[in-house]
Amino acid sequence: SVSNVDIADFEAVVRAQMERIEAELLTAVEADNEVLSEAAKHIIEAGGKRFRPHLVVLGSKFGPLQDRAAEGRVATGAIVVELTHVASLYHDDVMDDATVRRGSQSANVRWGNSLAILVGDYLFARASDLLTDLGMDVVRTYADMFNRLVRGQIAETVGPADGVDPLDHYLQVLADKTASLIATSTRVGAMVAGADVPTQDLLADYGEQLGLVFQLSDDIIDITSDETGKTPGTDLREGVDTLPILLAKRSTDPADSRLLELLGPVGPAADGGKRERTEDEVAEALDLLRKHPAIAEARADVERRAEAARRILDPLPDGPAKAALADLCDSVVTRTS
Ligand code: FPP
Ligand code: MG
Ligand code: MG
Repeated sequence: SVSNVDIADFEAVVRAQMERIEAELLTAVEADNEVLSEAAKHIIEAGGKRFRPHLVVLGSKFGPLQDRAAEGRVATGAIVVELTHVASLYHDDVMDDATVRRGSQSANVRWGNSLAILVGDYLFARASDLLTDLGMDVVRTYADMFNRLVRGQIAETVGPADGVDPLDHYLQVLADKTASLIATSTRVGAMVAGADVPTQDLLADYGEQLGLVFQLSDDIIDITSDETGKTPGTDLREGVDTLPILLAKRSTDPADSRLLELLGPVGPAADGGKRERTEDEVAEALDLLRKHPAIAEARADVERRAEAARRILDPLPDGPAKAALADLCDSVVTRTS
C-alpha cells in the first residue's frame, strides 16, 4: 500500500513539474509580434485545468527514466499536448460561434475569426516545432492523433451519414476529437520515460476511455451547468446531438412532445441554409432537458464508463501515480465545470 508520506512526496514532485510546465507554456508561444504574442497567450492565461499536461506527467511515472533529461522531455511533451489542445479551441470557438472560453472573451470575438484561426495555426506550429525534440516515434504518434482529431471534428460538422446509428456516430466523434489527444497525453508520458510498449498501450487505452468520459461529462455539463466559463446550450444551438439529447429523443412519453419538437432535426432549410434553433427555442429546450430523466441516464452511463476506465489500470504497479490516475476517473465524473 501507499503511505501518506509517499503520496505527499509524489504530489510535491508533480506540483513542481506542473509549475515548470506552466511557465514554459507561456514562453513557448512568445513571438516577436506583439499582437500575436498577446493573442496566443490569451486562452492559455484565461485558465484551464491543464488536464492533458497532468496526464503526460502521470504517464511518465511508469517508465524507468526519471532523471532531469527525462523530466525535460516530459515538460516538452506536456507543452505540446496543451498547445495542441488550445489551438483546437481557437478553431472550435470559431466553428461554434462561441463568445466565452475559460470565463474570458473568446479569441474570435476579441480579434475576429481570421486572426483566431491563424493564432490557432500558430500554436499548432509552435507545438510541431517542440515536438521534433521528442524523436520520430513520438512524432508518428502525434501525427496519427492529429489525423483523428481533425477527422473527429469533420465528422461532427458533417453529421451522421444515412443509415448510421446517431449514437455510434456521436461516440466515434468523441473518441476522435477528444479521446485521441488524451490517449496521446498518457502515451507520450510513458514513451518519453522509456516505458515498454505494453505499458504505453495500456496507458493509451486508459487515456482513450478517460477522454471519452471527459467529453461525455462536458456534453452533459453543456446542458446542466451555468458555471463552465462557456455559454450553456452551445451544442443545442449548433445542432450537435449529444448523449442526453440522443437519449431524450428516444422517449415515447406524450409529456415529452414539446421537447421532441424542439429537438427535431436542424439541417438543410428550404432556402438551402441550415435551419438553426432560435435563442428562445434553445432556452426552452435547455429548461426541459434539465428536468428530464435523460440527464440521469447519461450520468449513469458516464459512471459505468469511468469505472471501466479505472479497471484498465489494474495491471499497473500500485503506487501514488496509479492512485492519481484512478482519482481522475472520479473527478471527471463529478466535475461541474
Ligand atoms: C471541442 O469540442 C473541440 C475539440 C475537442 C476538437 C476540435 C478540433 C479541431 C478544431 C481541429 C484541430 C485543429 C488544430 C489546428 C489544432 P466542443 O465544442 O464540444 O467543446 P467545448 O464545449 O469546450 O467548446
Ligand atoms: Mg465548442
Ligand atoms: Mg465544437
